[in-house]
Amino acid sequence: MTQTGPARPAEQARIVLGIETSCDETAAAVVVGGRQVLSSVVSSQIDLHARFGGVVPEVASRAHAELIGPVVADALGEAGVDDADVHAVAATCGPGLVGALLVGVSTAKALALVWDVPFVAVNHLEAHLYACLLDAPDLEPPLLVLLVSGGHTLLVHMEDHGRYRVLGRTLDDAAGEAFDKVGRYLGLGYPGGPAIDRLANEGDPQAIAFPRAMRDAGYDFSFSGLKTAVVNHVRRHPDVDTADVAASFQDAVVDVLVAKARRAATDLGVNAMCLGGGVAANSSLRRRFTEAADEEGLRSLVPSPAYCTDNAAMVAATGWWTLQRTGPSPLDTGAVPNLTLS
Ligand code: KG4
Ligand code: ZN
Repeated sequence: MTQTGPARPAEQARIVLGIETSCDETAAAVVVGGRQVLSSVVSSQIDLHARFGGVVPEVASRAHAELIGPVVADALGEAGVDDADVHAVAATCGPGLVGALLVGVSTAKALALVWDVPFVAVNHLEAHLYACLLDAPDLEPPLLVLLVSGGHTLLVHMEDHGRYRVLGRTLDDAAGEAFDKVGRYLGLGYPGGPAIDRLANEGDPQAIAFPRAMRDAGYDFSFSGLKTAVVNHVRRHPDVDTADVAASFQDAVVDVLVAKARRAATDLGVNAMCLGGGVAANSSLRRRFTEAADEEGLRSLVPSPAYCTDNAAMVAATGWWTLQRTGPSPLDTGAVPNLTLS
């Protein structure tokens, strides 16, 4: 790899290489000016973890270490960008699995050091918020973002760049976690979310009236009761059609998510209501979220599925905005497994 000249001032930095290794996707991307994606490469480890029914941290770290070099090379190659064109390197520093995070953070710091460009540490949750902006270059805060992933369920008021107010969060399981646990219980394998989404298309969402915890009260969520209700229903009705269970379960989750996002968006008077996180790839959630916004006369933004699940384009974009706001991160920044959004 070639060595670049002196570091460019942060305010001039436009081409950012992003690196994402917080869980089971090894990803790298090249993004210009926080919005224009030149490349986004994702190498999924799902097949490696599927036989264990979930992500095995040690397996994930080793796979990241093997894959990160080729993935970064692919991202630069696809973007047609030379090492010397990269103005900053951003990596997810948390939240996530500590060993997995360290691979991305160490790689990004090493590249920044060798290329003599700024390193930027990125909060993975903030990156999911910024994923919305990748598909809508004109979108500006204030925004309401429903962030639903395997580890988090957050209703966020993005007041401005770098200014977030968490309105509500899950009191127990994250939405994606509920999909994955129910998927595993129904024998659909890992991850359960996409499998339930597919099977639900063949079932009746009205077949079983599963509970909608706290649907019309406050902004917090709870999904563990729903998961238990699914298990109890299947135990009591062993011959039940699995597609009906999948469709009814999905309907209950989506119903609560959309109701709260809609209420928050109208309460706050935002520019748009946006979806983010892996569960935002869910077809029913995407459709009903958009319908709800239309009914309220609000703009909605549902990122393309590739920007909903973990990717590095959102990390590079967040890195660029962070660089403009607060400048580079110190090179002694470490991985922060339990980092929150504040
Ligand atoms: O954001 P993400 O890729 O990783 C985390 O940061 O957690 O989200 C992964 C989660 C998993 O729980 C997966 O089951 C869920 O997103 N997911 C879906 C769908 N695609 C992925 N859930 C429901 N429907 C989908 N189509
Ligand atoms: Zn994520």
